[in-house]
Amino acid sequence: MTPVTLDRLWSEEALRERVRALLGPRKLIVVSNREPYMHVENAGDLTLIRPASGVTTALDPVLRACGGTWIAHGAGSGDRETADAQGHLAVPPDRPAYTLRRVWLTKEEEAGYYYGFANEALWPLCHVAYTRPVFRREDWEHYAAVNAKFASAVVEEAGDAPAFVFLQDYHFALLPRLLRQALPNALIAQFWHIPWPNPEAFRICPWKHEILDGLLGNHLLAFHIQYQCNNFIDTVDREIEARPDRERFAISYGQSLTYLRPVPISVDFASLEARGEAPETAALQERLHRRHRLQGKAVALGVDRLDYTKGIPERLRAVDRFLGRHPRFRERFVLLQIAAPSRIHIPEYKRISQEVATLVDEINWRYKTDRWSPIVYINEHLPSDIVAAYYRLADVCLVTSLHDGMNLVAKEFVANRSDRRGVLILSRFTGSSREMEEALLVNPYDVDGMADALAIAFDMSVGEQERRMDRLRSRVREFNVFRWAGTLIEEALRLAPGDRGSGA
Ligand code: G6P
Repeated sequence: MTPVTLDRLWSEEALRERVRALLGPRKLIVVSNREPYMHVENAGDLTLIRPASGVTTALDPVLRACGGTWIAHGAGSGDRETADAQGHLAVPPDRPAYTLRRVWLTKEEEAGYYYGFANEALWPLCHVAYTRPVFRREDWEHYAAVNAKFASAVVEEAGDAPAFVFLQDYHFALLPRLLRQALPNALIAQFWHIPWPNPEAFRICPWKHEILDGLLGNHLLAFHIQYQCNNFIDTVDREIEARPDRERFAISYGQSLTYLRPVPISVDFASLEARGEAPETAALQERLHRRHRLQGKAVALGVDRLDYTKGIPERLRAVDRFLGRHPRFRERFVLLQIAAPSRIHIPEYKRISQEVATLVDEINWRYKTDRWSPIVYINEHLPSDIVAAYYRLADVCLVTSLHDGMNLVAKEFVANRSDRRGVLILSRFTGSSREMEEALLVNPYDVDGMADALAIAFDMSVGEQERRMDRLRSRVREFNVFRWAGTLIEEALRLAPGDRGSGA
């Protein structure tokens, strides 16, 4: 591996300077469904929440560095009260650095576009987790209408200025085409944060042609890894009259040319590291240690959204097998499983929530003694400072997704651990496993293999932990989120045809 030299590191500062120079007079407009700051109203009190989302976790530091406008669905019960008449507010609220523009959706729109088409159709379609997608015409119509609503918001925000519009994820497959028509001078790039499946999986979608047509409105379409780019190009090749150019890695379709690129997303390494080392984190860590009675215990940690793609039941079964096979760990082991409730109105999410709760209960019942239960289940959304303390106290972090575009928990864990301790157990079916080979890589469908990995992790010498952690950390430090954003913006500007308003 190439050694990291400090002057080659992308930092918040380096990104700010670079992006300013690159964008010239262009406005930076980011669009995602999930907002980075949500206000929730409860009995007259307003609380600020940072949603559990890989997209918002990665992009907030980028916008704080570059400024600009972030357009997202205002989903919080206190969101209207805290924004102006146009849905604008300056964020982060305590240290404003960019503008959040909230888009309001009706309950029917949210049900059809977000819960329906995005999360009951596209999400299971793109993740090979053996959950069947549900396709409903009404959902599709809402999806199309909401994409049009966001297109209007982008047009309003862009005004007459040339813009660089950076779209996020599967909620907006139709938006690039709409923008290509409405804003001919804008440069449009999209990052698809979830996997892109193979053509056999994708072909069952009744609106597959419209989705591909929409996405080919982008000048640049980026995925985490090359494999997902290949799947996309194969899908286009099978499904529509377009000309894939495998030399340039681009697709020409009608008048437009879309470049495809793998650009793996990452985390703000420096901030996570600083948070891990902060005295407040140490104090929190001590409190949690006492609260969960961790003295003398081997501690495993899981941090997930409660989603069927994350392999939580598989992980719990592996813990069951591990305790069954290694009785010496009874009363000496704890799994702390944090699971943030997610998409709770969707039947499959109610089902997984029930399955996890039942399994926790069964396994605890099987092994518990007067003084000890093996699993502590924390079924809530925790703020990032508390998650940082949990990362710091774990001997092992378990990331066992059945399929995951990237998975940032794996990267957050290693960024946090400047003490060089701890072992990462990581599913081979995450994008991050491609860059994190010093983790213990597992197949989450193989319960015995995962149980063995737990035993290996707890028995790993300190020297071996440090050796692996050093390499993981140096890679995440170098390939951090500022580099992700910088690379993507540079690529978009380099590949885009003609002058799109650059002052340079
Ligand atoms: C994944 C998606 C994001 C999404 C996040 C949380 O990481 O790629 O776009 O924000 O899950 O899900 P939610 O539906 O709560 O936004």
